[in-house]
Amino acid sequence: MDNWDEFLSPYKQAVEELKVKLRGIRKQFTMNDDRSPIEFVTGRVKPVPSILDKMNKKKIRMDRLHCDMQDIAGLRMMCQFVDDIKKVVNIIRKRNDFRIVEEKDYISHKKPSGYRSYHVVIEYPVQTIQGERKILAEIQIRTLAMNFWATIEHSLNYKYNGDFPTEIQMRLQRAAEAAFRLDEEMSLIREEIQEAQKFFTKKKE
Ligand code: GTP
Ligand code: MG
Repeated sequence: MDNWDEFLSPYKQAVEELKVKLRGIRKQFTMNDDRSPIEFVTGRVKPVPSILDKMNKKKIRMDRLHCDMQDIAGLRMMCQFVDDIKKVVNIIRKRNDFRIVEEKDYISHKKPSGYRSYHVVIEYPVQTIQGERKILAEIQIRTLAMNFWATIEHSLNYKYNGDFPTEIQMRLQRAAEAAFRLDEEMSLIREEIQEAQKFFTKKKE
């Protein structure tokens, strides 16, 4: 590729726009004094060395890059509770500023690595001076616990190039299990809080 800047520029535009739009959802909840199902939103354009790496690993040709690599533009939406993820996905499904092309539920079906997240791949129209360009972007929706685990696993993956020593492999599995249980515990506490609030409003009446 002779001009990465040019190729990546609509992706950069898309990530910037989507960060504003998705953070706007949180703002709308907090403005109404409602609890937001979204804790925070991040976004990035995949760095060129990582794109080249993935092209190599997945045997993706340059001329197919725009359709075969779905996460050149990547957004993450972090939630406090597992139940919030469904709410966020439903909000995303209702929008009409982009089209959902694929959904992957790695929460009901966690990956063998222990990875959990909900992925929504969208086709997002970017307005350029040459006209509209549709690009693919991947939105990962996950709890803070899922994010903690995935972040650590990702950096270890980088260090060991995916080839973990058995000891590390085992500890990662156990950490994934612990993150899962943390999410479960938090869900239980949340239900208690909501029940207590319901009880409280009833008594006041
Ligand atoms: P890649 O996994 O990205 O090669 O593409 P894919 O077509 O298999 O899509 P998938 O939905 O499996 O993964 C997309 C993205 O999810 C990755 O780029 C990561 O950000 C994240 N992901 C998937 N599996 C794992 C995992 O085991 N560990 C971590 N930390 N992240 C993962
Ligand atoms: Mg994968």
